[in-house]
This record gives sequence, structure tokens and C-alpha cells, in this order.
Amino acid sequence: MQSSGPHPGSLAVLGIETSCDETAVAIYSSRGGLLSHQVFSQVGLHAPYGGVVPELASRDHIKKLLPLIEAAFAEAGVARTDLSAVAYTAGPGLIGALLVGATVAVGLAEAWRLPAIPIHHLEAHLMAVLLEEDAPDFPFVALLVSGGHTMLIDVRAFGDYSILGQTLDDAAGEAFDKSAKLLGLPYPGGPELAALAEQGDPTAFALPRPMLKKPGYDLSFSGLKTAVMLKVRAAEEAGGLDARVRADLASAFQEAVVDSLVGKAMRAARDAGRDRIVVAGGVGANRRLRERLRDEMTASGGRVYYPRIEFCTDNGAMVAYTGWLRLRAHGAPETPTVHARARWNLEDISCPP
Ligand code: KG4
Ligand code: ZN
Repeated sequence: MQSSGPHPGSLAVLGIETSCDETAVAIYSSRGGLLSHQVFSQVGLHAPYGGVVPELASRDHIKKLLPLIEAAFAEAGVARTDLSAVAYTAGPGLIGALLVGATVAVGLAEAWRLPAIPIHHLEAHLMAVLLEEDAPDFPFVALLVSGGHTMLIDVRAFGDYSILGQTLDDAAGEAFDKSAKLLGLPYPGGPELAALAEQGDPTAFALPRPMLKKPGYDLSFSGLKTAVMLKVRAAEEAGGLDARVRADLASAFQEAVVDSLVGKAMRAARDAGRDRIVVAGGVGANRRLRERLRDEMTASGGRVYYPRIEFCTDNGAMVAYTGWLRLRAHGAPETPTVHARARWNLEDISCPP
């Protein structure tokens, strides 16, 4: 059962994000917009292991979450009595990490007699762009590209999503990170590989563009990563994995990923009849991807929109804001309940996790 919620003019939502390796908190209100946002990245904690260690992630969220919530209140200059609800990421993500955010959110909501709103992490990524002043109207096609997901989604309205296509194996960010490792770059390698690619020649190596010639909107990156591995081996055997070769390989890899993403995104937008594309997720920070999509969309009379870089990667602002949208549209669930789901289909957004 849903309650009608407080008056729409006075909604303020605390958002909590702990689905992976960022502890993040924000406060969004109807009157002041985004009042605060705080992020603590665990990247240094996981770096020695070359990837996110779930148990370490959960433990660190426990340590950092309450101090970050206090910092968010201090930055916003509001009191807990000003809040209308607590929103939290309920999935998809690492189950232990999600449970930390969910239990803290529901505990606080109980103590403060507020509703708790479970949020789908990918929906929050899709809505992040609406925090920008120059935000797109619905409908739009979203290219969601992160370390865990690569999807093309038709976003018809808030809460109304169809998945058009997705990766059949590795996510684009994962392919960046794995290829970076093959090139000897430190974790997390995506941004490092992108920086190295700037110095290379993208035509120096011929790499595949998997799925690009196939119909539909699905993608695949594991074959590309294997192709990089074979080129690295061949160069090592020839005694020449030097700085030049590494930069050229990085550049050729990036160009292949960008070709695939841009090709499929343009096809999806054209077939769905959308002249707006929104790019969300960590790989949305990639300069080459931004440049290529912007050029292609401009040439076809459309436009591409991005959240600011800090809201491409995991953050609490997108969770607070999506909670605020949900509260405004549907009111709040009656009883705060801990929901946490490692897997959760974006198209099942209306049913609680
Ligand atoms: O959305 P995100 O912060 O985390 C989740 O996966 O949910 O995305 C992180 C991913 C990583 O794989 C990282 O290597 C990649 O985004 N990434 C980039 C760039 N910046 C971050 N990949 C390519 N170019 C970049 N500039
Ligand atoms: Zn994410």
C-alpha cells in the first residue's frame, strides 16, 4: 500500500549508495535541488588485488557510511527533521555491500519515522543526467556503460524502460580494465588505458568490432580482449612491447570499443525514433566516446547528453534524486523494509525487489 507522501513542494530525500566500491551519500530537495553529495571511493583498498574484493567492500562501507551521512547533513545545512524519506540502492550489485546500505537506510528511516525507498542502481544511473541544468526531455535512448553493465535502453518516461540490447559477455568497462592489465597498467586500468590511447595511432593494429555487422543492438567485448592479448603476446615474443606499441594497442582497442558502442547506439536511436541519446556509467567519462557520439548525433540532427563526470561514476546524488522522483510520483512504501538483490531486471522496476 502507498501513502500519498508529504506535500510535493517540500520533499527532501537522503540517498545512500553502497552497491559496489563507492560509499556515497547525498541530499536532494524540491526547494534547493542537490544540497550535498559525498563520495568515498574504495579504489585504493582493492588496488592490491586487481579487482573489487566483495568482503572488503562490505566492511569498508560499514566504516564509512555513518560519517559520510553526517558530512552530507553538515554540507547541506539541513536537519534530519527536514527529510521526507531515505532512499537507498537495493540492487543490482554486490549483495553484502548492498545489505550495508539497505540496513543503515532502513534503520535510520525507522528511527526517524520516515519512509525508506529502495532504488534500482541502473535506474539511478539513467536519471543522473536530469540533475544537469541542460537536461534532456523524455523519451531518449540511454547507453549505459560501466564496469558491470553495458546496455542500450529505450527510456520512454520515468519508470518506463525497455532494454534494447546488452553485452553478451564482458561489460565495456570490464574490457577496458582487463585490456589495461594486459598492457601492464595499474588498477583500475580504464582511465589509464584511455590516457595512453591519446598518444597512440588507432590504425596501427587491426582489431575486431564484434557484433557490429550483426543485426540488433547486442554487444560483445570478450573477443576483443582476447585479440588484445594475442597482439600483446606477439609483441612480447618479438621483443617489442615498448611504449610505442602499448600506446598504439591502447588506441586501437579504444577505437574498436568506441566503434561498437557508437554504431549500436546510433542504430538503436534511429530504429526507436529517438533524437536524444544519454550516456551514463563510468565509461561515459571516456573522451573519445563522447567526441564520436557527439559528432554522429549532431550529423544526424540529434543530440547527446551526459551527466557531469562525477555523476557518470557511482554516486549518492543519483540515488537521492531517483528517490525524490519516486516519492513525488508514487508516494512512499508504508513500512521501511530491507530490500537487497544482487540481480534485478530494470524492466521489473515497478515491483519492489
Ligand atoms: O559506473 P562505474 O563507476 O562503476 C560501475 O561499474 O558501476 O564504472 C567504472 C568503469 C571502470 O571499468 C572504469 O575502468 C571505467 O568505468 N572508466 C573508463 C574511463 N573512466 C572510467 N573507461 C574508459 N575510459 C575512461 N575515461
Ligand atoms: Zn554504477
